[in-house]
Amino acid sequence: MKGIVLAGGSGTRMYPATFATSKQLLPVYDKPLVYYPLSVLMLAGIREILVISTPTALPALRALLGDGAQLGLDLSYAVQTEPRGIADAFLVGADHIAGHETALVLGDNIFHGAGFGEVLRRGRAELVGCTLFSHPVADPERYGVGEVDERGRLVAIEEKPERPRSNHAITGLYFYDSDVLEVARDVVPSARGELEITDVNNVYLKNGKARMVTLGRGFTWLDAGTHESLLEASQYVQVLEHRQGVRVACLEEVALRMGFIGADDCYALGERMVNSDYGRYVMEVARQAA
Ligand code: G1P
Repeated sequence: MKGIVLAGGSGTRMYPATFATSKQLLPVYDKPLVYYPLSVLMLAGIREILVISTPTALPALRALLGDGAQLGLDLSYAVQTEPRGIADAFLVGADHIAGHETALVLGDNIFHGAGFGEVLRRGRAELVGCTLFSHPVADPERYGVGEVDERGRLVAIEEKPERPRSNHAITGLYFYDSDVLEVARDVVPSARGELEITDVNNVYLKNGKARMVTLGRGFTWLDAGTHESLLEASQYVQVLEHRQGVRVACLEEVALRMGFIGADDCYALGERMVNSDYGRYVMEVARQAA
């Protein structure tokens, strides 16, 4: 399975903070926002990942993550010149994903919860058509919303409905079979001028090939597309990390635990950041694994 991190968008809701950079490079407490969605793909066991971003932000993302070899990944990059919608990621990434199953994650989505890696790997192993991940929220009208029948089967998906039929927001993490490129090519722009991911998902649903995995209340799902939500995410991560002494979305640690890199490599990555708590944490994780 191939991966895509969509770190596009002009970030206009966060001006002036995002005039010269992208929101995915802004810190969520101790690390750039993009680390969080990238860690999700890594936890799913995906190593060939395309990062899509704007012409402004792409060079900085490349400087941050490089070719991914240091994390045992194979990272590539592509530019989305205009924010044409989430489903445009498949068209931009056509060469990367053609003929492969694909996991797409939005660059501003943060997931956290015990056993999440297991949920992801199971979702991947059991993939038929498309798998969506939902999470209960207080304000479903801001999201894609999934409706399930009494047997828990997904029956409808609506994008930002005025009257949501459930509180199941569809999160920005999607698994697709190798048909997704063809499906995305047939999608036409919505009223807001975007190629909607919900339209792609509705094609799968119509064909009886869409499944929704509910991430229950033991999970946390945050998006960080506004100043308030970015600050809330930072506070969430800070509280957790201080209280538990573990780090969320520490890419070096995830790479080590997934067997993508060895303890020595991990230690060396930490050593480069020895002046930061994050760097010393990476060194300690490596030491314990050696
Ligand atoms: C997008 C999707 C929506 C999904 C959300 C998750 O919304 O269109 O279905 O629930 O991401 O973050 P947008 O960010 O385009 O408003």
